Amino acid sequence: MQEKNMKGIILAGGSGTRLSPLTKVTSKQLLPIYDLPMIHFPLETLRQAGIVDILFIVAPDHAGDFLKYLGSGKDFNCHFSYEIQDKPQGIAQAFQIGKDFIDEDNVALILGDNLFEDDFSQSIQSFKTGGRIFAKKVADPERFGVVEFDEQNRAISIEEKPSNPKSNYCVTGLYIYDNTVVEKVKNLDFSPRGELEITDLNNLYLKEGSLDVAFVEGAWFDTGTFESMFEATQLIRDRRLAK
Ligand code: G1P
Repeated sequence: MQEKNMKGIILAGGSGTRLSPLTKVTSKQLLPIYDLPMIHFPLETLRQAGIVDILFIVAPDHAGDFLKYLGSGKDFNCHFSYEIQDKPQGIAQAFQIGKDFIDEDNVALILGDNLFEDDFSQSIQSFKTGGRIFAKKVADPERFGVVEFDEQNRAISIEEKPSNPKSNYCVTGLYIYDNTVVEKVKNLDFSPRGELEITDLNNLYLKEGSLDVAFVEGAWFDTGTFESMFEATQLIRDRRLAK
């Protein structure tokens, strides 16, 4: 069997209401984290792993601002494509919107507001089949997807924003899937909050025994709040000044 290529999707949808009024001016994912627009960081995470064919899925508001910053991809030695997510109907919807782009390949999806310190080259390049997600120990797991492990450290359940989290390990915004993801999203229903949930998709992989849960070692931020934007800004500033 021929090795499948790995494509990249950066999901930069949503209305960013938690960052209003800044998000009246532009998209959340284009707001600055120290000296660069937020989206630059997930883009670097994919590029570092050798992914050059990248689809940006953006909300209709301020869509032109993404083009202005990112362009064709030439300046980043990549090839960029764009699609619109008309309504914030969930992360898993990216695989419906991006179906033609994914084509026969595997795909790594990263959220446009997630900033990782780790280098995922090894995890991405060694990927063959199934799904691979990345967990991180946090103090406030109820804000995220939460993974429960058994005594052998095998993932046994994933719950979206549970009020009583079964562990402190949350699912971060980088997901790697084989091509079956395109079929799997067809079986998802909208959740009570009106979204196609990435957690439901991960549970499909978990049920068929093909979900691998790796761990994030370095810093990780979901920069969707002022507080986490500030912390991420401090990290990047410290790194720049240390150079
Ligand atoms: C989303 C996912 C959640 C995941 C988080 C990571 O949350 O639904 O499972 O842990 O991204 O950033 P949301 O952006 O909807 O709050």
